[in-house]
Amino acid sequence: MPVTPSQLMQWKQTGRPIAALTAWDYTFARLLDAAGVDVILVGDSLAMVALGHLNTLPLTLDEVLHHARAVGRGVRQSLLVCDLPFMTYQESAEQALRSAGRVLKETPMQAVKLEGGHPAAIGAVAKMVQAGIPVMGHVGLTPQSVHRLGYRQQGRKPVDADRILQEAIALEEAGAFSIVLEHIPAELAEQISRKLSIPTIGIGAGPHCDGQVLVTADLLGLSERHPPFSRQYANLQEIVTQAVQAYCTDVRIGKFP
Ligand code: KIV
Repeated sequence: MPVTPSQLMQWKQTGRPIAALTAWDYTFARLLDAAGVDVILVGDSLAMVALGHLNTLPLTLDEVLHHARAVGRGVRQSLLVCDLPFMTYQESAEQALRSAGRVLKETPMQAVKLEGGHPAAIGAVAKMVQAGIPVMGHVGLTPQSVHRLGYRQQGRKPVDADRILQEAIALEEAGAFSIVLEHIPAELAEQISRKLSIPTIGIGAGPHCDGQVLVTADLLGLSERHPPFSRQYANLQEIVTQAVQAYCTDVRIGKFP
């Protein structure tokens, strides 16, 4: 059975951890889906891993729609979630609704994700949820605010930890079906995960979240740089380099074809 937002909520209740990964094209999406990943996120990190930008800010809605369509073609089971890029939802709740509407109408994505838990973001979440769009929140380190926050761990000071907790609560109250907790102390992530009835999906937030997400390029060893909290499960960079070098050598010495 395909994974749905309500399935994630049930898994939280039964204590079944959620495994999420990012994808940016058909081939990886097909492999992740066949391998049994619960949630595939067309994250705006694709700006860096697929498009070579320095951060996520330059990504446009049309670009993410293009990648989301390709990812969708490869997926049968996993829940498909798509990031709303920088400045496609920050202006107003109406702008957020228009952007999310395009994602759901023009791609096979089933839900959208947006960053932040400030009042404007909460208003946007409520508006999208009222329109029937499942929304995933994202608090803690929010990479679209890199020029304000950097890539530092968030929520170390009690006042910041309390603000992040309140943001998570407000997102749940606005109707979000789950929340990404990025790069916050494990104790804070545990506190938020206990407090909320919707699942938390951690990245650099310790072991007590209801699920985990990684950028697939980091997990596979394809990234040029990766955050200290990610884990590399394979070194595809090395495997690809060796395969390509072997092919070049074979062509040059007449061993292939
Ligand atoms: O864009 C992305 O890849 C993300 C994950 C890090 C959660 O938002």
